[in-house]
Amino acid sequence: MEIEKVGVVGCGLMGSGIAEVAAKANFDVIVREVSDALVEAGRDRIRRSLDRAVEGEKLTEADRDAAWTRLRFSTELSDLSDRHLVIEAIVEDVKAKNELFATLDELCGPETILASNTSSLTITDMAAATGRPDRVVGLHFFSPVPVMKLVEVVRTIVTSDEAFNSAYAFAERLGKKPIVAQDNSGFVVNLLLVPYLLDAIRQLERGIASVEDIDRAMTLGLGHPLGPLALCDFVGIDTVYRISEIMFDEYRESRYAPPPLLKRIVAMGRFGKKTGQGFYDWSGDQPVPLPL
Ligand code: CAA
Repeated sequence: MEIEKVGVVGCGLMGSGIAEVAAKANFDVIVREVSDALVEAGRDRIRRSLDRAVEGEKLTEADRDAAWTRLRFSTELSDLSDRHLVIEAIVEDVKAKNELFATLDELCGPETILASNTSSLTITDMAAATGRPDRVVGLHFFSPVPVMKLVEVVRTIVTSDEAFNSAYAFAERLGKKPIVAQDNSGFVVNLLLVPYLLDAIRQLERGIASVEDIDRAMTLGLGHPLGPLALCDFVGIDTVYRISEIMFDEYRESRYAPPPLLKRIVAMGRFGKKTGQGFYDWSGDQPVPLPL
């Protein structure tokens, strides 16, 4: 089946990026959010990103305008019923995702491929909530979606070759570089990244180095674009916490357990860049490390 019509459920940071790259790659896209206010916020986020791509000379004005016409927004899941592929990018909560997959399974035609952008839950859980587990895959994108080239394409033990190959080809048509991963919590990237981020927080807890110096070590020593603590702020400290809880629950290995300091920062509502404060204060031109 040739994928032409794409649905995206959730228009937050990830959903908006996925919708944007799909529209830029000539797909007909419908994005669903739960309220008019969230539709507006998502629409604005996509528009700002498209404008930024034009300013950075990554996209012509004509291509931006064409992509914009390929995007439609809705608050009704039933509007996604004619889609060839639906990608879920809602909250990282297994109950919410399973309910969504069960509803999409009822609404969509039997050929529709259902995909999740989950970063730590297993695709198998969502597949089992549907009557088409062979047509459920993982399509895990990286933030910022228009910039990061990788997509992890994930198959379970029952994913059909046909559905998997269609999803893989879709990622390529977006201009991304896909990798193949078997279904497991964390796939390839987060299985490596999450213990690394948590170990950076443990270093801080043990007083080994300051926030600034831990990040400087990894940017200047290894050439990473961001150090691990700045990356936590970028991903969202609440998200890092949620992912580590899910991975710890799955593997029961201490390397995935959230360090107490991470819990304290989340309890204070310091979720990183999106709330203005995390390990850093992001209100000025340059991030300033906060005392912890
Ligand atoms: N559309 C298209 N291109 C864009 C763009 C947009 N909306 N916004 C920025 N760009 C381009 C810019 O034009 C620029 O291109 P050039 O390098 O060719 O000039 C490039 O992206 C970098 O942009 P900036 O110069 O504005 O910004 P920067 O140098 O500060 O880099 C960053 C920003 C790319 C995000 C960089 O900080 C980075 O690589 N950070 C790490 C990101 C990362 O690790 N992401 C993964 C997070 S983990 C995850 O997502 C998964 C999970 O499950 C937790």
